[in-house]
Amino acid sequence: MNEESSVKTSKEEEGSSPVCVGREDDLKKNKKTTASVHDREVVVFYHNGRFYALDCRCYRSGGAVGKAVGDINGQACIICPWHKYKITLATGEGLYQAINPREPSLSPKWRSKGVKQRTHTVTVDNGNVYVTLSDVVDSIDSDYYAEKFKNMIYSPLKK
Ligand code: FES
Repeated sequence: MNEESSVKTSKEEEGSSPVCVGREDDLKKNKKTTASVHDREVVVFYHNGRFYALDCRCYRSGGAVGKAVGDINGQACIICPWHKYKITLATGEGLYQAINPREPSLSPKWRSKGVKQRTHTVTVDNGNVYVTLSDVVDSIDSDYYAEKFKNMIYSPLKK
């Protein structure tokens, strides 16, 4: 192993370690927080008894998505304040409404555009909440704004 691959492996391992983003009690009370996790801006929600973590900047144009959470078609979603895009908290899918002209009712139904916003893993340990960044290698639309707004928030303690 040469020095370059050793450094790369070390950086990759560092990026995959969990980072503390706050106390469990505080997050449950406040319902959300933003944090820098290995220089990536992440928003963490507590909604209906579950924690979720996603990239903080909307995949559409980089709006900060940490304002409103609602349930759409039975799924917990962020509603981006800029253009009202809906993004599922659990999977990062973009949702939209569409009408199928071949169906007789012509009532709009919710559909998925696929995963647009990168989601991350949340764990709770000893009263602290940790975020581990997604290791999905395929590019996800929100990666562009995650890179553009890198290093924008404080650096919390590492686990
Ligand atoms: S930036 Fe999120 S909907 Fe436009």
